[in-house]
Amino acid sequence: MVNEFEIRKQICDIGQRIYNRGMVAANDGNISVKISDNEFIATPTGVSKGFMKPSMLVKVDGEGKVLASDGIHKPSSELKMHLRVYKERPDVKAVVHAHPMYATAFAIAGIPLAKPIMPEAIITLGCVPIAKYGTPSTEEIPDAISEYLQNYDAVLLENHGALSFGVDLMNAYFKMESLEFYAQLLYLSTQLGGPKEIPKDEVQRLYELRKKFNMPGRHPGDLCGVTGCACVNAKKEEAAKNENADLEKMVAEITRRIMSEMK
Ligand code: 13P
Repeated sequence: MVNEFEIRKQICDIGQRIYNRGMVAANDGNISVKISDNEFIATPTGVSKGFMKPSMLVKVDGEGKVLASDGIHKPSSELKMHLRVYKERPDVKAVVHAHPMYATAFAIAGIPLAKPIMPEAIITLGCVPIAKYGTPSTEEIPDAISEYLQNYDAVLLENHGALSFGVDLMNAYFKMESLEFYAQLLYLSTQLGGPKEIPKDEVQRLYELRKKFNMPGRHPGDLCGVTGCACVNAKKEEAAKNENADLEKMVAEITRRIMSEMK
């Protein structure tokens, strides 16, 4: 049986951490925890997550209906995104959304975190794909993250920030910390001439270790690094499609010119 007050205190504590670590500015970010099959505690909208009190948090059901509040605060404007994660991932009990500086810079540049550069990041995160841009608070973001939910525990949100989820709040929060650390290292090593990547067979060994550790959550496993990261492949496919479309346009234009000269 979960102690709801303890969960509320823990959410405030994590809110303070993400704020103090600069993972969110001003009123940014949101956090939620699943406390029963159809009850969730979510952070309030428009409030700094560094200065929350347990009573400010809002209890909602799986459709987003408010079940309990202090009568002042409303649930996060990103609640739909959180509820989609719980709906599609019954193993998930907590969701954290933040805008950590380096991870968000990658999300803005459109670069997924997909290079095997350090064992811890490979074991805890694998690669972190980018879900395509959607307007905050609409169904666009839930729809965009959906394709990654079954195989990943962390996703970058294009031009927006990052999302992580796990079997409890500490687990989801630590993934956000790891993701930001990974992004920072990837950025810095790129400035230093480019990261030296861990070879594929060693990446595979790390995945085997992960299985042995029996770590909870989903993981890209052989999708990432070994057979090629799914998110990187998706980008390559997109680029190939665009290239083919350009080629087709060029052939059509040449054919049109030849035909008009033959008239
Ligand atoms: P809320 O305060 O409504 O949770 O929104 C913050 C945010 O970061 C939106 O992306």
